[in-house]
Amino acid sequence: MMSISSLFFRGAVLWFVAGTSVGMQMGLSGNHEFIDAHAHLNLLGWVSSALSGCFYALHPTVAAKRRAWVHFTIYNAGLVLMLPSLYLVQAGHAWAEPLLQIGSSLTWAGVILFAILVVTAPSLGKVGVGK
Ligand code: HEM
Repeated sequence: MMSISSLFFRGAVLWFVAGTSVGMQMGLSGNHEFIDAHAHLNLLGWVSSALSGCFYALHPTVAAKRRAWVHFTIYNAGLVLMLPSLYLVQAGHAWAEPLLQIGSSLTWAGVILFAILVVTAPSLGKVGVGK
């Protein structure tokens, strides 16, 4: 089974492609209306997912917890709903707003779960051997 850090890294790089593609779209067209979607694809999708992957790679005992899988699932389900919806809303499709709200709530729930995992994990200073 693929490790939780691998899943985060693979997801991160997909969001990186999507985020920079929207950046290219804005840069080439001169139309910067997708700036919010671009920033969130890159920062929630690429940067935050890659940082989560780094954390779990450094702390395998935390990564082995079932809650780490729940974190990955909720966070990414949220992003899959939230980020395309944000793009659609910025393109003028107001019908996507409820999806944006549901997606951002799920993403935020994933962030809270990650915070609980990090804060309650003992021995974070001992990389790779935390219990
Ligand atoms: C091929 C790569 C990229 C291209 C072509 C690109 C292009 C752009 C463009 C055209 C804007 C709008 C600028 C404006 O209207 O003021 C922008 C804004 C922004 N980009 Fe990128 N970008 C790229 C990568 C990234 C990455 C990797 C990140 C973050 C990790 C990022 C974060 C942001 C943020 C936060 C803003 C909003 C800045 C503001 O509101 O002042 N971009 N980008």
